[in-house]
Amino acid sequence: VTISRQSYRPYPFEVTAVHLDFDLDPASTLVTSRLSLHRKEANAPLVLDGEELDLVSIKVDGQLLDASRYEVGEHGLTIHGLGQTVELEIANRCSPQANSTLMGLYVSNGVFFTQCEAEGFRRITYFPDRPDVMSRFTVTLRAAKAEFPVLLSNGNLIGQTDLPDGRHEAQWEDPFMKPCYLFALVAGKLTWRESRVNTQSGREVLLQVYSDPGNENKTQFALESLERALRWDETRFSLELDLDRFMIVAARDFNMGAMENKGLNVFNAAYVLADPDSATDANYGAIEAVIGHEYFHNWTGNRVTCRDWFQLSLKEGLTVFRDQEFTADMMATGLDETAAASARTVKRIDDVVTLRAAQFPEDAGPMAHPIRPESYQEIGNFYTATVYEKGSEVIRMQQTLLGPDGFNEGLAEYFRRHDGQAVTCDDFVAAMESVYQKTHPGRDLSVFRHWYSQAGTPRVKVDMRYDDATRRCTLRLTQSCAPVGVERLAGIAVKPPLHIPFSMGLLDADGKALPLKLAGSDAAASDSCLLELTTETAEWVFEDIPSRPVPSLLRDFSAPVIVEYDFSDAELALLMAHDTNAFARWEAGQQLATRQILAATDAVRGGQPASLSDSFVEAWRSVLTATDLDAAYRARALALPAEKTLAERMTEVDPIALATARDHLRAELGRRLAADWQAAVDANQTPGEYSPDPIAAGKRAMKNLALAFLLAGGAPQAEAQVSEQYASSKNMTDRMAALSALVNFGPREAANTALADFFERYQSDPLSVDKWFTLQATSRHTDVETVNGLMVHPAFTLRNPNRARSLVFQFCLNNPYGFHRPDGSGYRYWAEQVLALDRLNPEISARLARAMDRWIRYVPALSAQMKQALEDVRNHPGLSRNVTEIVSKALEIS
Ligand code: ARG
Ligand code: ZN
Repeated sequence: VTISRQSYRPYPFEVTAVHLDFDLDPASTLVTSRLSLHRKEANAPLVLDGEELDLVSIKVDGQLLDASRYEVGEHGLTIHGLGQTVELEIANRCSPQANSTLMGLYVSNGVFFTQCEAEGFRRITYFPDRPDVMSRFTVTLRAAKAEFPVLLSNGNLIGQTDLPDGRHEAQWEDPFMKPCYLFALVAGKLTWRESRVNTQSGREVLLQVYSDPGNENKTQFALESLERALRWDETRFSLELDLDRFMIVAARDFNMGAMENKGLNVFNAAYVLADPDSATDANYGAIEAVIGHEYFHNWTGNRVTCRDWFQLSLKEGLTVFRDQEFTADMMATGLDETAAASARTVKRIDDVVTLRAAQFPEDAGPMAHPIRPESYQEIGNFYTATVYEKGSEVIRMQQTLLGPDGFNEGLAEYFRRHDGQAVTCDDFVAAMESVYQKTHPGRDLSVFRHWYSQAGTPRVKVDMRYDDATRRCTLRLTQSCAPVGVERLAGIAVKPPLHIPFSMGLLDADGKALPLKLAGSDAAASDSCLLELTTETAEWVFEDIPSRPVPSLLRDFSAPVIVEYDFSDAELALLMAHDTNAFARWEAGQQLATRQILAATDAVRGGQPASLSDSFVEAWRSVLTATDLDAAYRARALALPAEKTLAERMTEVDPIALATARDHLRAELGRRLAADWQAAVDANQTPGEYSPDPIAAGKRAMKNLALAFLLAGGAPQAEAQVSEQYASSKNMTDRMAALSALVNFGPREAANTALADFFERYQSDPLSVDKWFTLQATSRHTDVETVNGLMVHPAFTLRNPNRARSLVFQFCLNNPYGFHRPDGSGYRYWAEQVLALDRLNPEISARLARAMDRWIRYVPALSAQMKQALEDVRNHPGLSRNVTEIVSKALEIS
């Protein structure tokens, strides 16, 4: 069944108060729920959601309800004839131990956890499981004290008592109204680290990070990150923590990254636990970002929540934007102005790389949807790069259009209007618009709103004319956005234009920035100009331009679009060497590399030797040796574009040819620039105690990139250097980088020895074992047979999502050579694993199912086999709704 955005109806009852009472037992937990109900609509029956529950009893105002008054079905409970105001008490049982979906109440490593967003609460008890029903919650938890000494839920602990039979109980009260998707409980043997800090207004709050016993030394960075997040939200947006107590708990088994339950965030352990020996710089960065993200949800998500799940980007796009800004500010902290600007650009590059590799393909494929989807079959399938990352870009554009101060004012207005409410994306834009109209009289955001209703990545075609006689340069922008997937099926042929903020500059032939003076404007000339394209096409004229310039386009990636402009290689090289906008400078290099790799791919396919141009090698050398650029930035500028991004540029994807060409390019750059790579290795050592700070991390990134290029290029000294780094390194970043280089570019012998050593060293640390599986899953030497061998390794299990991702997902998504074997073995393996996972955990299985999204774009010999695998899955009886939606949409586009 497809649910459509237009079908929203308010819930006919108010649930003013909820009391939940849990008798926790892994095999069978008894839940007693008391709801204070108030009718808002005459005659409407009370319809409660409920799944996989055993109903025990129903009482209305203390009286057992006669069986004739209600019906229980597979998806819930309907009660008829309720009065205006009633107290309803429902008792039911559920089975946490048997729950492998990790939605609702489940057990992980002997600890009870809950995950309710989006529709998990209905697996705990009968309830209107929708975000616009908000209530005051109190919770009583009861469990055996020896096994479950820590009992946590949302809000404040108001009482804890021992009970006669070795059990104990705790009572929690959340002072804020919330929808049930923000409910959480945790119960088990846990250790914790805590601190007390004062909020802006001087209230003392208790911050705690819980983890499995034995991990107490791995939670310090998480706790510090939480403190930084709390401070940052106060200073950047004047948003203060509203609770006396804020808890984070690490779970080994978790479907996603983390969950913002009010006052009790539950996290995938991968985004909490870190020490230098087991976590990489990237892990530290991700921990700080995710801790920030969940903390920021307390305002953007919890205080103001979503009316319905079509509005998911209201909280997710906005909160991703906030976490991206948080990370950028943290990276820039303590640096001088130039270094701070570069650090921000590095963060921007990282986010754009992710967007292009994950969201652009999604937006061109069978699952394409607007950031506010129009319909879905399973909401769990819509926690997507589009809702999150493109959603964040749409918020960022609003900040660009309003300016940082205007944006802050708009956000304050949003809270003034909607604190305590469940609202829509339209409500957010309306608050922003009220500020926009003050500073832009006569204008509005009506065209901008189309970003919420359109799918697909828009293209902006740029035409530039230069007139010697008048010294005028005219830039014409033309936008288009072809109907994609679901839009095409719905018969949509034309889409209205979008409001696109387009930042640009002009360089002269020597690479000097030209002052921009727009004809008819009296604004002072500046280096950068923000053009606002609100129609299909528009022109801007710049005056006093001495000669035909080179345009620098979409600076800082001011909109999530694809730019089309016919640059010559020489112009790209000029931009790469001189653009004052560091983002556009990086972009020029990526475009140059893209051209080289795509040309080499064609050569490989035609059986020709792939070659790369001298000017390209020199462009790479100039960045490699530009010591005025910081290491973190150079590491990005010298990295090769991602395969997923490159594949989108090919008319027909030949993944093995593409990977071969990309590897060839790396090896050639490694060989031809060997001395410079070696110099970069030597210049970017980070002796002394490990710190994950961005400067040190940038140096390691540069050094390890250089080592990989050296080894790939066959430098004679490289293998010894890499092996030595593997053996002697005192931090996981360097050890992993060395091992990864050995596995991918080194001799098999050395790689296998190091892999065996790594397992020996880290076998007791699950997150490190995940890394071990990932390295092998993505190695070019790994095929289906190898993966199947790894799947019977004692450390492997499909039940733990992190472990499944580390091997199965990594192989299917990030191993072009193994997965795309021409014999189709990779696709058959994919089908088997989708089905195996679907029996355990449909949400995770549906994620794996998406590995086939772009099947139709592959060379015919592969796409035919991919289609076969998709059909095999679709035809399997008993397939979950989650996987059904993904595979049927994939097949519909054929
Ligand atoms: N709201 C969470 C976050 O982004 C994501 C939870 C989604 N959970 C799920 N099982 N789909 O921070
Ligand atoms: Zn979120």
